[in-house]
Amino acid sequence: MNMDVLVSLSKRRGFVFQSSEIYGGTGSVWDYGPLGVELKNNIKRIWWRDFVQARPDMVGIDASILMNPMVWKASGHLDHFTDPMVDCRECKYRFRADHVDAMPWVHYCPATKGNKFTIPAGEPCGHCGQRRTLCPNCGKGELTAPRQFNLMFKTFMGPVEEDAAVTYLRPETAQAMFVNFDNVLQSMRLKLPFGIAQAGRSFRNEITPGNFIFRTREFEQMEIEFFVNPNARVDGRPADEYWHDRWIEDCMAWFQRYGLSAENLRLREHERDELAHYAKRTVDIEYRFPIGWSELMGIANRTDFDLKQHAKWSGKSLTYFDEERKEHVVPFVVEPAAGVDRALLAFMADAYREEEVRGEKRVVLKFHPELAPIKVAVLPLLKKRDDIVAAAHAIRADLARHWRVVYDDTAAIGRLYRRQDEVGTPYCVTVDVQTVGDSERGEAGDSRVTIRDRDSMEQARVPIAELGAVFRELLDGAPWRQMSARYPAPPAKASGPSGER
Ligand code: GAP
Repeated sequence: MNMDVLVSLSKRRGFVFQSSEIYGGTGSVWDYGPLGVELKNNIKRIWWRDFVQARPDMVGIDASILMNPMVWKASGHLDHFTDPMVDCRECKYRFRADHVDAMPWVHYCPATKGNKFTIPAGEPCGHCGQRRTLCPNCGKGELTAPRQFNLMFKTFMGPVEEDAAVTYLRPETAQAMFVNFDNVLQSMRLKLPFGIAQAGRSFRNEITPGNFIFRTREFEQMEIEFFVNPNARVDGRPADEYWHDRWIEDCMAWFQRYGLSAENLRLREHERDELAHYAKRTVDIEYRFPIGWSELMGIANRTDFDLKQHAKWSGKSLTYFDEERKEHVVPFVVEPAAGVDRALLAFMADAYREEEVRGEKRVVLKFHPELAPIKVAVLPLLKKRDDIVAAAHAIRADLARHWRVVYDDTAAIGRLYRRQDEVGTPYCVTVDVQTVGDSERGEAGDSRVTIRDRDSMEQARVPIAELGAVFRELLDGAPWRQMSARYPAPPAKASGPSGER
């Protein structure tokens, strides 16, 4: 699958827009539209529910983006949070030195009178056999030697732009969990092992951002710092190593539960020389994105590095007293750190299908119902019949007390179904003449509506009074087959209001 397909669908259907597009856009920041914000909120909501609310050993915080600049000195970000950067002496374009060889490159080929070619990353020119030595962007300039570039955005706190007022936009949410460790421990009377979670914005002045929402300068993270006693053992293993593996398994299972296919996920162990300055071991969960296998999230064993650093620089003790073992310890921390935007991109890519239905292409996002931005669309079969329209509006209003439910009457029913398929709406409700009857002919309605299932495109005929209960079951994971067996669509209506099957 091609990234352009997702970019175009995202714009056309209100998932993601380029930021400040009418002014030509802003470098690698994106805006989430009406459906994108629902999808993103759903991801954060289920993450919080499954990893914070449902667990007895987890609590959450919501910290400020602006922190005391000493935080970044202590954490090592001021000194180490850098990428090697090279510039082109000709076009002035800047690159991450370690990304240059992974880019397609512009080449003026001497064997073809200097014709310009764009050559795939890492490959030599097919005509002259040369490999890239110059700038991949303009094909003319020499690249400078690499120099370290700090990725933190600098800003000023207060009205005076002076050195003493310099502060930074946080490049990760994690540090707030470390600097609040004692506040949370004391206020919540927690016992090890326990975790602190936070979802929120982070900012990195990436040198070569790109690939849509995969690498951006402003993004959201969902991070957990899970503290353990380094002297404790679980199942005969050091607690930090045991919990590291547990979190890797739990995170892998979580992504699969909400729709990522096992064959598109893999684990990648960091080599010794690529480990971050704080990590004893890091494992990435990689996803097969449209750009190839890349990091979806990282799960690091950060040891006691951060708590010790903050204790050293703040002068405050950040230890834990283990009552049973009668010992003071600086906890080790296991950190499952996920990107919301990358998770959203992965869920979209995995859900995207192109199918053929009766000779026509159907584009469908097969989102897990918990993720789907719209849960139900209510569609009147005849928009000229006031009684049908009124019944459809009433059903929408009733269901919308619990879920995101929309009403649409702007096209014929087959088209409306396709539109909902394309944004991943798991169920449509159709109100028709049979529902409301025909008062002029003295025919009473049956007060039932047709529910159409996105994935099978099958239909069921359900009493309006039972819709709430039916959707509660379906959206809670009840299989469609169970519902269509309980409420079979009558044979005359077997092909449904749209004639679809
Ligand atoms: N506290 C550890 C930490 O921040 P990280 O691997 O740098 O670790 C965690 O970031 C996750 O945040 C990544 O796996 C990725 O999903 C997301 N992320 C990091 N940088 C990003 C960027 N520039 N754009 C979008 N997502 C990003």
